[in-house]
Amino acid sequence: MGMYMTQRKDIPILASALEHLLNGCRTTGYAPYVELVKTNLKRRIKMAVREIKPNIYSVGAIDWDRRLFDELIPLPDGTTYNAYLIKGSEKITLVDTVDPTKENELVNNLKKSGINTIDYVVANHAEQDHSGAIPKILELYPNAKVLTNPRCKDMLVDLLLVAAGKFITVNDGESISLGDKTLEFIYAPWVHWPETMLTYLKEDKILFPCDLLGSHLATSDLFVSDEAKVYESAKRYYAEIMMPFRTNIKKHLEKIKNLEIEMIAPSHGPLYNRPEFILNAYKDWISDEVKNEVIIPYISMHGSTRRMVDYFVEALIKRNIAAKPFNLTKTDIGELAMALVDAATIVIASPTVLAGPHPSVVYAVFLANALRPKTKFASVIGSYGWGGKMLEQITGMLTNLKVEIIAPLVVKGYPKEGDLNSLDRLADEIHKKHKEQNIIR
Ligand code: FEO
Repeated sequence: MGMYMTQRKDIPILASALEHLLNGCRTTGYAPYVELVKTNLKRRIKMAVREIKPNIYSVGAIDWDRRLFDELIPLPDGTTYNAYLIKGSEKITLVDTVDPTKENELVNNLKKSGINTIDYVVANHAEQDHSGAIPKILELYPNAKVLTNPRCKDMLVDLLLVAAGKFITVNDGESISLGDKTLEFIYAPWVHWPETMLTYLKEDKILFPCDLLGSHLATSDLFVSDEAKVYESAKRYYAEIMMPFRTNIKKHLEKIKNLEIEMIAPSHGPLYNRPEFILNAYKDWISDEVKNEVIIPYISMHGSTRRMVDYFVEALIKRNIAAKPFNLTKTDIGELAMALVDAATIVIASPTVLAGPHPSVVYAVFLANALRPKTKFASVIGSYGWGGKMLEQITGMLTNLKVEIIAPLVVKGYPKEGDLNSLDRLADEIHKKHKEQNIIR
């Protein structure tokens, strides 16, 4: 810790020295290299141990370069794997660990924090980006026990081959004393896996919710400094991972609503010292309310479907309905997921390929169906050359969505005037449905 504090105090001196060096180098062509050194120095120092409250430290890692999670979910802004060290007067606890790829950073941070033992490792969630370094921690701190619920224990035994004797299981609502600090465990199954739980540090009024309320955002900010940016990252994360479990998450938020929370310390992204910011955002996302928006994921091969989408978007805008077309050859699928959090209606647009929908449309529809958004209406538009079952195949994939299907429109070849009039009628129908939902002002 002493070494780290010295580094922190040195930051302004180092920055000033580099600034002088940079000024000297501006005319010599070395400026870009000096900038690179400054950036790397800033990153390295910022990944060290940081105190979030007396005797509570952030000891996790920042993954600036990760661009895909589960080999599926785009991470345009990287992510962090947050872990927290709590020095109670009698027991030392680590809350969650990090992804195995960042194990060394966690270990180094623990060394810097000046501890020589760990009593408890809280496992709020068995997924490896938080649990993956548990075996290493148990190897380095052999007296440590893993505190978790029985279901998470079973999963950690299965996934990481942790010995069953290394666990202490806790019940929902159970408390464990660390001396002058108390941990309370709150079961919250199906944040997106069945074993998830939250940990509350009573005296300091800090909630450690792991994935829940987090954001995939690599940043050297310890606390949220740019709420608009974090809102986007947190919404993307909610949309991609938690949206299918909206009903469960509603129950979890209900369960913690009477807790006095001064700080939320998630396991991804910056911490919240204004908890109502993220709690209010979640309340909006998990509510049953939808917005006056139509999402249009589409593919066009030769321009027919594209002409329909362009005309339809204009028709919606004329009717005071927000339209969001997503060209699936260019869209980051996370953007589509985010749009599905709020939209009242989805209209899928596809050409016909090998008698069915375009494969990229199939992928988007499969994902939309799996994400179970609260969307209320759906339709399909598109084109065909000589036949096929594109329409039936798309509507047949929407089994998870509790949507009313509005009469689709599939045209032969390039859309003619009569087809465009039909698109106006589809826009009229959506306008009527949105009026009935009281979402058009
Ligand atoms: Fe961040 Fe579900 O793991």
